Amino acid sequence: IGEEDARYVVSLIRSIPGFPKEGIVFRDFMPVLADPKALGLLFDALERTLPVPADGFDAVAGLESRGFLFGPALAARLGKGFVPVRKAGKLPPETIGESYDLEYGTASIEIEADMVRPGQRVLIVDDLIATGGTAKAAADLIRRAGGEVAGYSFVMGLDGLDGIARLGDVPVTTLVTMP
Ligand code: PRP
Ligand code: ADE
Repeated sequence: IGEEDARYVVSLIRSIPGFPKEGIVFRDFMPVLADPKALGLLFDALERTLPVPADGFDAVAGLESRGFLFGPALAARLGKGFVPVRKAGKLPPETIGESYDLEYGTASIEIEADMVRPGQRVLIVDDLIATGGTAKAAADLIRRAGGEVAGYSFVMGLDGLDGIARLGDVPVTTLVTMP
């Protein structure tokens, strides 16, 4: 997408200091989703800046909750399936899970063990990478299920938290970087 369109999308991202706790500046994408023009532009941008070509992965995995806003629509545009990575306790057995730390807390995530086929190449999608704790836990789950992590697509990367460095030697794209 063009520079002017990119500026328009970024201008709709809202920053809320002190949420959900003191010291955090919360980056809120909801106004981007609510805007018909920005929503379309955002998916165009995600599709055009994939970390690996679309024939380099077989499925898209998204992280509850905000990864569910972007992953399924991107997967549908690319003709791929979607694997939901859920917060713990929501999925029926058999599940496999991982616990992790994120910028403002701790959490556990799970997948149904048979949602990833052996050798399946998976693109992990989320709205934002901060410390990388969430994305790393999702990658560990996909690998434990027998899959391969082909790449990561984030709408936003937060600077200074070294999140991308934690993801190892796998291609990553972020559309926007903010402090
Ligand atoms: C947010 C965000 C990412 C994660 C990034 O999710 O959507 O998944 O934090 O932080 P990290 O890089 O430090 O791990 P959150 O757990 O707040 O849940 P939500 O999507 O349900 O709002
Ligand atoms: N997830 C982790 N850190 C965040 C932040 N600063 N804003 C929005 N979501 C986040």
